[in-house]
Amino acid sequence: MKTVVITGSARGLGFEMAKVFLNNNVNVVISDVNEENLKRAKEKLDSMDSQAKAESCICNVTKTDDIENLIRFAKEKFNTIDIWVNNAGVNQPEKAVWELTEDEINVILDIDLKGTINCTRLIMQEMEKQKSGAIYNVEGYGSNDAMMLGLSIYGTAKRAITYFTQALAKENEAKNTGVIVGRLSPGIMITDFLVNAVGDKEKIVLSEKTKKVYNILGDYPDIIAKHMVNGMLNNKKNNVQIQWLTNGKAAWRFMTSSFNKRDFFKALDEGKTE
Ligand SMILES: NC(=O)c1ccc[n+]([C@@H]2O[C@H](COP(=O)([O-])OP(=O)(O)OC[C@H]3O[C@@H](n4cnc5c(N)ncnc54)[C@H](O)[C@@H]3O)[C@@H](O)[C@H]2O)c1
Repeated sequence: MKTVVITGSARGLGFEMAKVFLNNNVNVVISDVNEENLKRAKEKLDSMDSQAKAESCICNVTKTDDIENLIRFAKEKFNTIDIWVNNAGVNQPEKAVWELTEDEINVILDIDLKGTINCTRLIMQEMEKQKSGAIYNVEGYGSNDAMMLGLSIYGTAKRAITYFTQALAKENEAKNTGVIVGRLSPGIMITDFLVNAVGDKEKIVLSEKTKKVYNILGDYPDIIAKHMVNGMLNNKKNNVQIQWLTNGKAAWRFMTSSFNKRDFFKALDEGKTE
């Protein structure tokens, strides 16, 4: 039986992927900085009917000790870590670069970029010894060079995640490690992330124009998680991108938006994220 470790998986995409992995009889270690949400998430996974097991471990991806502890914990429980997903991430307040505080910029870069880099560094050391494994990093707005007001630092981090993951794939190929690396591109997901910045410390008030675009292009994370997990479980290649919102799908959504009306935000205001 395979084992996956997912960072930032107490809610949102990470949690939904954990559920799909369990449904596919893959052992899951969920981890998050938010202890309360993590406990709730573990209880939900425990109530699922699966031959595989779920475990949970607190981990702040900005802390090396926490990451090392998460790796140790997962190995103690399941021996081998087959798949590692760097999913933890925070959004940015809707402000221009010069309106952000140094702290806000540091939080975004520390979690969204350096967290993924440091987790990768440490899990690669394990997977290189195993001579097998797969690492997937979550892309986001900016990964494809798109730009918009209020996402400059987040976009910088996610653009760098794309470069980083591609470079990592090349290094694994050059060193013949047996480890494969890929990118998950989830598009727009209706999660708490959309209305919370820098780790739920600040609220984001979405403009009507932004909500309109999100209503057209967005999806709940459970459906996206199925696509991502199927992609990961079937993938044997290095340097892949598993993408949900393709250009073709986005164009189709805009073309059909006048007779396919959706309003996720009324539901999100009421706390619904799935
Ligand atoms: N929601 C979207 O529209 C969207 C679009 C593209 C990419 N993404 C990316 O997908 C990933 C998941 O997003 P989501 O929408 O599920 O967000 P979410 O806010 O619902 O979940 C993110 C989780 O990460 C955790 N987290 C935050 N800081 C952490 C830290 N320092 N250490 C460990 N965990 C931490 C949070 O507690 C939370 O449980 C993120 O990388 C995000 O950038 C999101």
